[in-house]
Parts: sequence; C-alpha cells; structure tokens
Amino acid sequence: MIHNFNAGPSILPKEVFEEAAKAILNFRDTGLSILEIGHRTPLFESVLNETVSLAKELMKLDSDHEVLFLHGGATTQFFQIPMNLLNESETAAYLDCGVWGSKAIKEARVFGNVEVVASSKDKNYTYIPKNFRIPSDAVYFHYTTNNTIEGTEMFTIPETNVPLVADMSSDILSHVLDFNRFAFIYAGAQKNIGAAGVNMVVVRKDILGKVNRKLPGMMDYRQHIEAGSMLNTPPVFAIYVCLLTLRWLKQQGGVAAIEKVNKAKADLLYKTLDAKDGFNPTVAREDRSRMNVVFLISDPQLEKKFLDACKEQHMVGVKGHRSVGGYRVSLYNALPLESVKALSSLIDQL
Ligand SMILES: Cc1ncc(COP(=O)(O)O)c(C=O)c1O
Repeated sequence: MIHNFNAGPSILPKEVFEEAAKAILNFRDTGLSILEIGHRTPLFESVLNETVSLAKELMKLDSDHEVLFLHGGATTQFFQIPMNLLNESETAAYLDCGVWGSKAIKEARVFGNVEVVASSKDKNYTYIPKNFRIPSDAVYFHYTTNNTIEGTEMFTIPETNVPLVADMSSDILSHVLDFNRFAFIYAGAQKNIGAAGVNMVVVRKDILGKVNRKLPGMMDYRQHIEAGSMLNTPPVFAIYVCLLTLRWLKQQGGVAAIEKVNKAKADLLYKTLDAKDGFNPTVAREDRSRMNVVFLISDPQLEKKFLDACKEQHMVGVKGHRSVGGYRVSLYNALPLESVKALSSLIDQL
C-alpha cells in the first residue's frame, strides 16, 4: 500500500479512481467514454446538476448562494474577484497569512486599493494574527482559511459586517463551517473536491453587478450563473471526478463525520511529533492546520533515517514546499487514518 501525503493534486478515495476509470471506458453503459460525450447532452447535464446540488447539500447553502464550476484554478480567482467586486477608488481588506494570500493581495492591487489588516510575515507565516480590525467601509474582506504551504488554519469566521471572501482551496468540506456567512468562496478542486482543472466557486448573488468597469464575458460571474457554468465547454471529466468525490463524502456521513476523522488524524500526528526529539512542528500550537502538517527535523542524520524509512514503507509526498523547506504531510479528507497511524509508528520507531 502506498501512503500518499501529497499536498495537491493529492489522494482521492479509491472508489473515485475506480468509478472514474470505468467512466473513461464506458460511461453509464452508453458504450461511450465520458471524454467523448458532448457537454450539452442530457448525460452531462445530469452530472453537472447532481454535482451542484450535492455541493449545496453538503455545505447546507441557502438559496441566495450559487455554485459554479470554473476553469483557471484558484489563481484565476485571485484577480477575477477584485475585477468583479472592487472599483478603482474603493478599498478591499486582506489578511496576509501566507504565500497564496499574498499572491491574492498582489492581484487585487491591479484593480483598486488594498488594506492589509494584519500579516504574519514577520514570523515566516507560522501563526495567524489575532484581534485585527476590518475597516467597516471595505468592499470585502479576503482571507485564506488554510495556508497550504505554511500549515496554519483558521477554524472560526471573523466577526464583521463586511462581506467575507475566502480561499478555501485546501480545507473546504473538511470541517463544519457556516458557509452561508460568506459572500464568496473559492477552491481549486485538487485537494478535497476532485481532480485538477476545475475550481468550485460559491457566490452570494447580491454582491455582483456593482463595479463600473466592463467585464469580458468569461470573467463575469453573472454570465456564468446565467449559463449554469456552461458559458463555454466546461472541464467535463474534472467535474465528473468532483461528483464522485462529493458522493463519497456524503456516504461517509458528510462534513461533520469527516471532521471527526480529520481531527483524529491531525491529533495523532501532532502528538507523535511533539513527543519525538528532533522533530519540530513549525506552527503556533493554536493555529496548527489539520490539513497540512509542517515540521523540521533538526539533525541531518535523523533526517536521512526518516527519508529512508519513508521510501522503504512507500510513504510519498512528505517533502515541504520549495519556498519553506522542511517537511509537510497533507491529511486531506481522502487520506485514511491507517496512513497516519503508519507514519506515526514510523516516526516513533526512529
Ligand atoms: C490555498 C491555496 N490557494 C490557491 C492555490 C492555487 O491554486 P491553483 O494552482 O489551482 O491555481 C493553492 C494551491 O495549492 C492553494 O493551496
């Protein structure tokens, strides 16, 4: 068995791989591959409709929120959001908690003013700033719920009347959250939702249509809503993989059930790391991510022993992001508890 701790694209449930493989050869007994069916056919329409309705059900969204599946990854959302929401003379508030958030800030500055309400850059983004003030006249407040590279996570939603915009790429649907509190949510699919190539967007309709710039059709969320995510050819296969992953999540008991497993996985791994000499988690205890566990190993010999043992026991994806070094173990929804138990016992025995 391979234990896959990759940060994304990352592990998906085995059942999803099996069903997706079947659909490539013969989709729903049509004799056709899912890769060769038209997107404007009842066959694909039923896939898209079910994916949207499962996403709404799992997030318990109200009728003010629309769910879209768009191209371009979360990185496209970094600029598409300010392009749709922020006039040149207005200000958006951003929290600077990591590499991804700072990229979002850079893109927003192309379209209007940005006020960075707080930053944890002073300590290499190893904690989440507390008690920051969000200006009441900001058009929106943007933050990253889970900082994939640095391994910090925000479990509670900031208290504010300013519309909330969140990049949930690496922890969406991993724990219970009142998703209706957000005006806008986006997430690249390739961690907890499915395959790379599609982005899930949740938008509360009333925040749209307020900017005075002209928008190209593909950049305009209102046009995507009107066209039901079919303004052009959608990423058909990637959306199908989302459907299979969301069905799997529902079968597990939904978000509350997976949260319990995610908590058990993260608790076990942090406990093991805290107990082991030479293994040092880098993040402030109260801000530790349940999705991406980042740590350093202080002694090069121990480091070599760890890497050799990982290789021998088929553990992949433990290297840290190139920008921070060290190690990062990702524990997304589909990673079984057994993999964390195996890794913990490997560390114990070093
Ligand atoms: C929190 C977060 N935001 C944005 C991105 C960028 O996503 P994409 O490569 O899909 O554009 C990532 C990728 O890992 C991420 O983890």
